[in-house]
Amino acid sequence: MTDSYSSIYTDVLIIGSGGAGLTLALKLADQHRVTILSKLATEESNTRYAQGGISAVFDDTDSINSHIQDTLKTGEGLCDPDIVTLTVKQGKQSIDWLIKQGVSFTYESNHGPDLPRLHLNREGGHSHRRIVHAADATGQSVISTLMERAQEHCNITLLEHYNAIDLVTDKSRQFPDGHVIGAYALDSQNNAVIPISARIVVLATGGANKVYLYTSNPDIATGDGLSLAWRAGCRIGNMEFMQFHPTCLYHPDARSFLISEAIRGEGAKLLLPNGEPFMHLFDSREELAPRDIVARAIDHQIKKYGIDFVYLDISHKSPAFIHRHFPNIYQQCLKFNIDITSQKIPVVPAAHYTCGGIITDSYSKTDVSGLYAIGEVACTGLHGANRMASNSLLECLVFASQAAESILRELPNRTTPVAIRPWDESQVAKSNEKVVIAHNWDEIRRVMWDYVGIVRSDKRLSRARERINLLKAEIHEYYSDFTITSDLLELRNLVIVAELIIMSAQQRKESRGLHYNQDYPEQDNHTPPKNTILSPQHYSPAFTKKTKTL
Ligand code: FAD
Ligand code: SIN
Repeated sequence: MTDSYSSIYTDVLIIGSGGAGLTLALKLADQHRVTILSKLATEESNTRYAQGGISAVFDDTDSINSHIQDTLKTGEGLCDPDIVTLTVKQGKQSIDWLIKQGVSFTYESNHGPDLPRLHLNREGGHSHRRIVHAADATGQSVISTLMERAQEHCNITLLEHYNAIDLVTDKSRQFPDGHVIGAYALDSQNNAVIPISARIVVLATGGANKVYLYTSNPDIATGDGLSLAWRAGCRIGNMEFMQFHPTCLYHPDARSFLISEAIRGEGAKLLLPNGEPFMHLFDSREELAPRDIVARAIDHQIKKYGIDFVYLDISHKSPAFIHRHFPNIYQQCLKFNIDITSQKIPVVPAAHYTCGGIITDSYSKTDVSGLYAIGEVACTGLHGANRMASNSLLECLVFASQAAESILRELPNRTTPVAIRPWDESQVAKSNEKVVIAHNWDEIRRVMWDYVGIVRSDKRLSRARERINLLKAEIHEYYSDFTITSDLLELRNLVIVAELIIMSAQQRKESRGLHYNQDYPEQDNHTPPKNTILSPQHYSPAFTKKTKTL
């Protein structure tokens, strides 16, 4: 049985310590008390594993307009042009802010008498070199620097191994339609549920790609924020657009290791086992076509030839170049006896990025008063039907700034944090059948991979829906009867994410961007492109706990 410890009170509760959460905290902490929760260790996040870099216009031959046009084109008619413009215009200042925090990016080595210039990578969909990076471990550099700055700040409290369970909302005279007053979190190291009261709550929980069997994402990516927001009454948009990265290392012992698109940016070729290139058969941009096209092409070849993987070959570049630009990928592959300076890399597509999410406005506000969402968990309108490479970290930085601006305006009008009742598990028991959790985790991820993956069909989607409904009922019963653990909380969120993806995919009767349904293989160009929006009326209430207080 979990104990209920004393409550925490804070001005701003940020759930998530990735690039988005830490940036926002640093932008607020000079004026307000900020508490940041992370489900595991603070640095463990998708941000930490980012490789290619952050897109921003620095090259003299590049322009803001070109970055906007590339983003709109990749998003296949569903990007919000105002949001794209707002984001792209803040590219340079976002990079400058990171440099000021101490992030060390890679610079050109041959700059002669001129000031050193940032080295820029090239990636799919971008018509110019515009990816600012720290070798091939940009995320590690960003996270370690922002964490250091946050640890130094006396107004920031970092709580590790705190797993947010649910948001708490309340109605008051000031907010008759309800507003968020905090959240319950499981302190998993002490097995205690802590009520955390806050004047503002921000979801910065990242994506949901663990819902698929094969993913480039670390274990934290279970879509918790999406599910918390959905239960609290927020609209969720465009969940059918799950991005599969074309090139993850294929090796029985390698767990979710990405081979950056920047490698293709330097001319690496995708090859069949017999050494033949194939991308020219699918798109004139070949290896640098947007990800949906490259991932589908690989999937097609794998199925056509009954092979397990294709190869990626960068060995035309000199070992010195590879060691300088891709030291992390070189070392990781070497651990599996693949020397990328002379050998081809076996690769497969894997779930990588959640383009949909909690619908937010240009200041990162959600539908629930006092609740913001930033980073991968949000659906801002930037990515539309497909995210362009390296636009995600940019989005984290820009919308953390937008949220900071709004929160600084809003906080003076917010009352002090309101007390939240202690968590009550007096009517539930300790489970003696934990196998149910492990089994259901595996089943959800396999169903999603097999039926709701890169290529979908109506039949596959309805099969998936039936199975997910059964799993949801079983997980509901288990959740309501037994004490919580981190695995159970994630499972409860994962099944909701699966349901949201399937419901959204079933609504789209065309193929567009990342959503490909072989029953509607064409894009519908007869009606204006539409976002898929799931509103609280689609919500089937489930997952209440047997308790006196909730
Ligand atoms: P994250 O960085 O994922 O952070 C989420 C945080 O939320 C974590 O701290 C986690 O512990 C916490 N959390 C989650 N649930 C809970 C809960 N219930 N309770 C408490 N805390 C919780 N994008 C680019 O733009 N450029 C790249 O080069 C790039 N490379 C990538 C490479 C890889 C391998 C991967 C996986 C992604 C890459 N991306 C890249 C995408 C990008 O890294 C992510 O979209 C971005 O980092 C998301 O940042 P975030 O702050 O929104 O979430
Ligand atoms: C990569 O380096 O290929 C990942 C870039 C991204 O996801 O934006």
